[in-house]
Amino acid sequence: MAVQIVPSILSANQANLGAVVHQLRATGLETIHLDVMDGNFVPPITFGAKLLADLKREAGGVYDVHLMVAHPEEQLELFAEAGADWITVHHEAAHHVHRLLARIKTLGKRAGVSINPGTPVTQLEPLLDIADLFLIMTVNPGWGGQELIEGCLDKVRWLKDRALAPVMVDGGVNLRTMAKVARAGTDLAVVGSALFKGDLNEILTRLKEQAATPQT
Ligand code: DX5
Ligand code: ZN
Repeated sequence: MAVQIVPSILSANQANLGAVVHQLRATGLETIHLDVMDGNFVPPITFGAKLLADLKREAGGVYDVHLMVAHPEEQLELFAEAGADWITVHHEAAHHVHRLLARIKTLGKRAGVSINPGTPVTQLEPLLDIADLFLIMTVNPGWGGQELIEGCLDKVRWLKDRALAPVMVDGGVNLRTMAKVARAGTDLAVVGSALFKGDLNEILTRLKEQAATPQT
């Protein structure tokens, strides 16, 4: 099955985000990946819940919120109220991960769990029947435009053999790497910087060709 592309607006012109989301949605990309960074779990600081609320009002869309924050438990209500549809927490930042995922579901949202490249995928074993989404980081989080760490794709294969929930890959997905990401069995691929390096429609067409690469 082809990989679904989920655009990250991290590398877009931040002075223009409403227009960027309109443009992405006009190409049929309905789900927008929002990279929330707190200057603690990762060095940069990016988006807060108000930006999400404003974007949703201004440009619509389905929002997949990736919380790269040290205290995700403090952010769940804020992002849920702001209009998040999916909320993903990092396993490394969650002291009580089952409780966090349950809380997200109670708020009426889909609950995702993410792991950094240095975290073994077996850490997700207790969550196989609980998470609504598994987000496999293929770069160390913090910045767009990094090189995909290919060994992380084995984690996708491991999950696809065991989990029913979709598996998403995040980091370094571009025209060079999309076919490999697809072959690993990825359901959803976050694409950030690669989308904003030229004509969006042309890039998307080429990415989709790569994403449709049959599995071997
Ligand atoms: C990295 C973020 C990613 C990032 C991906 O910390 O979680 O979502 O935007 O950007 P690219 O596609 O440029 O690696
Ligand atoms: Zn992300």
